[in-house]
Amino acid sequence: MSTVEVHLEDSTLVDELRKDVRDGLTADPKWLSPKYFYDALGSELFEEITVLPEYYPTRTERALLEDHALDIAEATESTMLIELGSGSSEKTKLLLDAGVKHGSLKTYVPQDVSISALEGAIEQISKEFPALEVNGIVSDFTDTLQNLPSGNARTIAFLGGTLGNLIPDERREFLKAIADALDPGEHLLLGVGLVIDPAVLVPAYDDAAGVTAKFNRNVLSVINSRLGGNFDPDAFEHVALWNAEDEWIEMRLRARAPQDVHIAELDLDVHFDAGEDLRTEISAKFRPETITAELAAAGFGVEHLWSDTESRFALILAGRVSES
Ligand code: SAH
Ligand code: TRP
Repeated sequence: MSTVEVHLEDSTLVDELRKDVRDGLTADPKWLSPKYFYDALGSELFEEITVLPEYYPTRTERALLEDHALDIAEATESTMLIELGSGSSEKTKLLLDAGVKHGSLKTYVPQDVSISALEGAIEQISKEFPALEVNGIVSDFTDTLQNLPSGNARTIAFLGGTLGNLIPDERREFLKAIADALDPGEHLLLGVGLVIDPAVLVPAYDDAAGVTAKFNRNVLSVINSRLGGNFDPDAFEHVALWNAEDEWIEMRLRARAPQDVHIAELDLDVHFDAGEDLRTEISAKFRPETITAELAAAGFGVEHLWSDTESRFALILAGRVSES
């Protein structure tokens, strides 16, 4: 059995886009919120990123899941796996397979802002795991965690390093909201990128084939098609840089020449100087001790932290601790 619940209507998403584009493009420096990357084309481009030779996070996390999926099923005895920002759910199949084999897992709840990614994933998973109940949710994970299904022995998975795409304040609030959604003894399974040599990190966000550049520029096409903008995406250069102080990658779009952009539906004119940056996304990297402390502050105790031999990525199983 499979269902999809929509808690974020497309019209609401466009209203938010309107507000965020106006706020972001009239700010100094200019910025755009990353959730608008993931229209149908954006979700496809992200899947292309995951198999690029430079993009180590996906294959590193997949290897950790291969090695530890059974440990996770045994440690959690979960009956329900809820996954935030599930995308294609490709790696999640390892967790589903282990949970079903272990005998405990009955329900999978993928959640994403991208309806196209979610529908594709649900179709695949239902085919491959006919015994599982699959209940998808279309929503924004930063504003609605109250819609998550109740149950006992739930695990919330948040993979792919997506936690790093939130700014620190949002991240703190978000971890707290996940903790609030869980009962003591339930679990969070978190996949995060670790701080490593920028010579390895930066190319993961600036690949030779230019797929990440295309993904980054796609957000301009989203504005064009949804708000009647006239951005020329090719007039912007993709920039990925390592911010050593904040320990995050910054993705930007840099105007190659001075230009004026008109966004019809907002009746907004925006000027870019030559070389001016539009900030589109951060991807923060973590250290085991700092993420452990952030989790503790939110109400989680780290039970396992698995990492690859090169310490590029960490898969963390944390338990919701009881309030004292
Ligand atoms: N978990 C997958 C996908 C990671 S990419 C993996 O590990 O490969 C990030 C995913 O989060 C995308 O599928 C995107 O659509 C989703 N996403 C981004 N911002 C979101 C938001 N605010 N609410 C819900 N989903 C979001
Ligand atoms: N969660 C992914 C990450 O931070 C998202 C991502 C990968 C991304 N490549 C990107 C976001 C390029 C924006 C631009 O690794």
